[in-house]
Amino acid sequence: MRKKVVAGNWKMNLDLSQGADLATGINKHFMAEPLNGKEVILCTPYIHLSIVSSLLSAPGLTAGAQNCSEHKSGAYTGEVSAAMIRSTGASSVIIGHSERRTYYGENDALLASKTAEALRNGLRVIFCCGEVLSEREGNIHFDIVKRQLEQGLFILSEEDFRKCIIAYEPVWAIGTGVTASPAQAQEMHHYIRGLVREKYGKNASDDTTILYGGSCKASNAAELFANHDVDGGLIGGASLVQDEFCNIVKAL
Ligand code: PGA
Repeated sequence: MRKKVVAGNWKMNLDLSQGADLATGINKHFMAEPLNGKEVILCTPYIHLSIVSSLLSAPGLTAGAQNCSEHKSGAYTGEVSAAMIRSTGASSVIIGHSERRTYYGENDALLASKTAEALRNGLRVIFCCGEVLSEREGNIHFDIVKRQLEQGLFILSEEDFRKCIIAYEPVWAIGTGVTASPAQAQEMHHYIRGLVREKYGKNASDDTTILYGGSCKASNAAELFANHDVDGGLIGGASLVQDEFCNIVKAL
């Protein structure tokens, strides 16, 4: 069964006490208004994970990281392993966010290694893909997303692939206030689901959760989520404000 999911990506925002306050508030909200089968994942900075995980008790509400090392352990100063993330109580990790691809040079091969390492350690992967503006204008956005998925994710067995969520995030929509139109989102999500069907078959593609990300907020979430192939959102800026974030979840 395809899951409905909203994931918040806090990025490099909120100090520890601010993060704990936000997590406490969101938990309280979903204790009072149960998620009823929907899932909400708070993807926090590494140092918040342990405390945030311990603060979340509402059914369906869990914590996740925003990145992980491709290595198991060892002399990799400044890195955090998938096993460490798992040990905090977090159960998910974002892999391949466009900011990691762009600012930290993370390429498809590296992301495939990170994905494999995350899965080996029992983490669920939220795998991001999406084109930049010039690629959309050049009408190669489908090719770009196809390459990112084929090289980063479709190397997995079906069993492992089923532990992943795909997030389509057009880079031109991230943090810009420009959202993909519901039709643009549906068109790409439908295309992605078709790629999954070709690779893993109809059952797997029917079961795959595909999130939209990029300037999604409470005021536009409902029209994006209304599309058949849009199963929720990956939310950046709007995940930092409790009411706004909870209203996005409500729109699902
Ligand atoms: P945004 O970010 O909602 O602030 O556009 C989305 C993301 O980067 O995941």
